Amino acid sequence: MLVFVPPHPLIKHWVSVLRNEQTPCAIFKSAMAELGRLLIYEASRDWLPTITGEIETPVAVASVEFIDPREPVLVIPILRAGLALAEHAPSILPATKTYHLGLRRDEETLQPSIYLNNLPDKIPEGTRVLVVDPMLATGGTIVTAIDLLIERGVTSKQIKVVSAVAAPPALQKLNNKFPGLHVYTGIIDPEVNEKGFIIPGLGDAGDRSFA
Ligand code: PRP
Repeated sequence: MLVFVPPHPLIKHWVSVLRNEQTPCAIFKSAMAELGRLLIYEASRDWLPTITGEIETPVAVASVEFIDPREPVLVIPILRAGLALAEHAPSILPATKTYHLGLRRDEETLQPSIYLNNLPDKIPEGTRVLVVDPMLATGGTIVTAIDLLIERGVTSKQIKVVSAVAAPPALQKLNNKFPGLHVYTGIIDPEVNEKGFIIPGLGDAGDRSFA
């Protein structure tokens, strides 16, 4: 598995805004969206299929290369907090289809349950899939989401995960189950506490985005 923390000062900036408990809800949500924009840009590097051709500029003929609109990236925001991180995906990526997945983690058991699944029954072979969830803590949620994709014909090599903060238990679980996976995250934090919060983390990303 590849875990990539893009070394960019803007990524550090938006993670720092998110970490600050004084950041108000509206700013938190837009900071999450900006972080998502940068991480999705990084995740899409060398990943998108292109088509080439020639077009006429106002003065001459030019060789051109476009993203192939026939092969949209499937964007899977994990509700709720994934909505903010995935906000700019359809404007950064020229061809996308979005399918929402609602997963809620039980506060006591930390086990996720699925309350919304808009995924199609079958996902065509070779489709590129971007799973977007800000927090990878114990890893239960992201593993459940990827299992749902694999049941529909996707292999882990087709999937990129975008998160704001990732912690070792989640990364370990993902590495054990899905060795071909690529994870793009704003930062890796050292631990998860007994309540399932990433430390130091940024708190409850869903509540802070939509409170
Ligand atoms: C949080 C977070 C992740 C999940 C991570 O969501 O946004 O989806 O927990 O935890 P895990 O790695 O231990 O499974 P939550 O269930 O609180 O839902 P929310 O986004 O609606 O707040």
